[in-house]
Amino acid sequence: MITILIKSALNFSHDILKQTTQTGDYVIDATMGNGHDTKFLAEIVGQKGKVFSFDIQDLAINNTKKLLKENSIDNVDIIKDSHSNFDKYIKHNNIAAIIYNLGYLPGGDKSLITHPESTIISINKGLKLLKKHGILILVIYYGHPGGQSEKDEVFKLTENLNQKEFNVLKYEFINQNNEPPILIAIEKK
Ligand SMILES: C[S@@+](CC[C@H](N)C(=O)[O-])C[C@H]1O[C@@H](n2cnc3c(N)ncnc32)[C@H](O)[C@@H]1O
Repeated sequence: MITILIKSALNFSHDILKQTTQTGDYVIDATMGNGHDTKFLAEIVGQKGKVFSFDIQDLAINNTKKLLKENSIDNVDIIKDSHSNFDKYIKHNNIAAIIYNLGYLPGGDKSLITHPESTIISINKGLKLLKKHGILILVIYYGHPGGQSEKDEVFKLTENLNQKEFNVLKYEFINQNNEPPILIAIEKK
C-alpha cells in the first residue's frame, strides 16, 4: 500500500494533537464549527479530561451537539461565545492543547468568518493558559475575502514570539493552487 508521507495541514494538526495530548488532559477547541476537532479531542482526553469548545454561531453549536450525542460523548463544555473571552470560562493554566481552524463554517454562511482582532486577542490569552510543553495550533484557511489579512496578522504575532518561551513552526505547501490551509504550531517551552 502506498501512503502519502506529507499530510494536509488538517491531518498534520491531528497528528500533533495525538502526540501532545493524553487521557485526563484539559484542551480547547477555539473554533468548534461542525465539531470534528471537538470529537477528536474528546476521544483522546476521555472521561477524566475535558474539552472546552467555543463558537459564536447557533448552527455550529447545534451541529456539534448532534455529533457528540450520536457518538455518546459527554466530556465537552460547549460555550457560545467568542474565543477572545477564553479567560471568562477557563481559570486554570494547565491546558494541554488549543486548536483553531480559521475561516468560515463548512456548509454554513461564508460571510461569517473569524476576524483578526478577536483571533489575536484569543491567541494571546490562549498562550497564557497553556501548560509547559502545551501546544497551540492554528490551521489557517485564507482563500476567502478577509482571509489574507487575518493570515498576515497571525504571522506577525507568531513570528515575533520570544524563542526562549516558544517554539513556532510553520507548515505550508508551496506548490499548490487554491490557497491550501497553512498550519502554525506553537509549543510553550
Ligand atoms: C473553519 S470553521 C471551524 C471548523 C471546525 N473545526 C470543524 O471541525 O468543523 C470556523 C468556525 O469559527 C467560528 N468563529 C468565528 N469567529 C469566532 C469567534 N470569535 N470565536 C469562536 N468561534 C468563532 C465560526 O462560526 C466557524 O464555525
